[in-house]
Amino acid sequence: MRVAFVGKGGAGKSSLAGTFARVLAAAGEQVLVLDSDPMPGLALSLGVPSVDTGLPDDAVEEYQEGGRRRYRLRSGLTGQGAVEQYAVAGPDGVRFLQLGKARGPRWDNSRPHWAFQRVLDDLPGDDWSIVGDLPGGTRQPFMTWGRYARTYLVVVEPTPASLLSGRRLARLAASRGTPQVLAVANKMRQPDDPDRVAAGTGLDVLGAVPFDPAVAEADRQGRALLDAEPAAPAVAAVRSLVEALRSREAPS
Ligand SMILES: Nc1ncnc2c1ncn2[C@@H]1O[C@H](COP(=O)(O)OP(=O)(O)O)[C@@H](O)[C@H]1O
Ligand SMILES: [Mg+2]
Repeated sequence: MRVAFVGKGGAGKSSLAGTFARVLAAAGEQVLVLDSDPMPGLALSLGVPSVDTGLPDDAVEEYQEGGRRRYRLRSGLTGQGAVEQYAVAGPDGVRFLQLGKARGPRWDNSRPHWAFQRVLDDLPGDDWSIVGDLPGGTRQPFMTWGRYARTYLVVVEPTPASLLSGRRLARLAASRGTPQVLAVANKMRQPDDPDRVAAGTGLDVLGAVPFDPAVAEADRQGRALLDAEPAAPAVAAVRSLVEALRSREAPS
């Protein structure tokens, strides 16, 4: 499965993506987790040491095209090879790659970013599942950084602002003919909250995750929810999301 979490900042993308990836990996899948958010957070909810480094500068080499400077993976390095060499190994066997912080305005500081982009263009094949966390926002993160996704999960809270963001993302998706786009209703407090999410976004709702203080507590501890509170209601809800998506995604 190739899934990317999108939505407004604070909706719960990183919390859900981290748990989702761990659940898949614990079920025996080979899972590559991608954090495309320059504001990192996924490492913590996944339970890998919170390193702030992206790919090394020498993962890419420079070349000229039409008089312009471009970057490609260095000779002999494939996307799969970059994952094997550089992705951080995490619990349950997940592998983790992140964009890494922007180090400054100089062009040569962006080599890790170029490397990340080139890996997105050459991801390992379908024997890997890919779970991505996209930056909050609309067009660019959604369409460009998430170009590997076969399913976008739009994480939506039952608040007017979040519903509005969800609706915008749903419209963008429809206008681009993107693959499957579904909503995940997060931080639900009332039984009719998922219906509000469906009505407000116009999206099918894959599933609902309750408001669960265990999520905030795991965050406070800087631990993965699955490690801090494996029996939390939110974990059970994410397991259901995984099952629901499995039964929806066309076999690849
Ligand atoms: N189901 C939930 N119940 C309670 N709190 C949640 C839930 N999901 C996320 N949160 C909290 O919401 C905040 C934002 O979550 P986060 O995953 O960082 O959002 P995003 O990645 O979309 O910006 C965090 O403080 C997190 O603990
Ligand atoms: Mg986040």
